[in-house]
Amino acid sequence: MNDSLLVEARDLERSYHNGREQIRVLHGASLELRRGEAVAVIGPSGSGKSTLLNLLNGLLPPESGELRLFGRAHTELTESDWAEMRRTRIATLFQDGNLIPTLTVSRNIAFRAGLAGVHRHDGDALLERLGIAETAQRYPDQLSGGQRQRAALACAFAMQPELILADEPTGSLDYATAQRVAPLFFDAIRERSLGALIVTHNPELAQRCDRILELRDGALSPWVSAQFS
Ligand SMILES: Nc1ncnc2c1ncn2[C@@H]1O[C@H](COP(=O)(O)OP(=O)(O)OP(=O)(O)O)[C@@H](O)[C@H]1O
Ligand SMILES: [Mg+2]
Repeated sequence: MNDSLLVEARDLERSYHNGREQIRVLHGASLELRRGEAVAVIGPSGSGKSTLLNLLNGLLPPESGELRLFGRAHTELTESDWAEMRRTRIATLFQDGNLIPTLTVSRNIAFRAGLAGVHRHDGDALLERLGIAETAQRYPDQLSGGQRQRAALACAFAMQPELILADEPTGSLDYATAQRVAPLFFDAIRERSLGALIVTHNPELAQRCDRILELRDGALSPWVSAQFS
């Protein structure tokens, strides 16, 4: 096995079933992601980007196809293996945020890091770098959407994962803030040799990635176009 490969996915298939209606979302989706590599996934709304991330973090099983995380086939992974990977190795940044509402931002970071077994982390420095130092003692519902998104990023970095699955990590940020946050994202990836799969509509973020894949008609292909759409 090539141990630099974090994710290997071949011909993933996944549909949703609403009563009699079948919504075929992923149809032959394949990708590989290595340590130290950042890959952007772009595609129209409803094309299946969030669904793809949920297959890769084990929240949704593929209906067919092959999937290996950290060299282990999904067919051999139990629910508790997945839970352990999500606790310590895979950080998912969900599109709608994932902070615990009853904890302050600072406690959210400490909780996430503690769960991952990381006992030395500098939450204040992370918040400072992300430009939201003033939110440390606030609760998630006291933050703006963009502040919540950055607080969720701080939690993800604090757990020191090997793989980051990020669903529109700058989606709620204004242009200037996104410009400021993007380098932090890539610094964290390069410094720790993380792998990152970043779903984004932000051209600047996508173009900073090593590769851009487009999800269309259920499958992923290298994005080739002079123009970002
Ligand atoms: N739980 C569900 N039940 C039924 N259909 C679903 C479910 N979740 C998603 N879908 C449908 O599957 C398709 C893919 O959804 P998904 O959320 O993966 O798209 P997306 O590419 O992330 O879109 P966006 O850019 O708007 O976030 C959409 O047509 C959506 O309506
Ligand atoms: Mg989505």
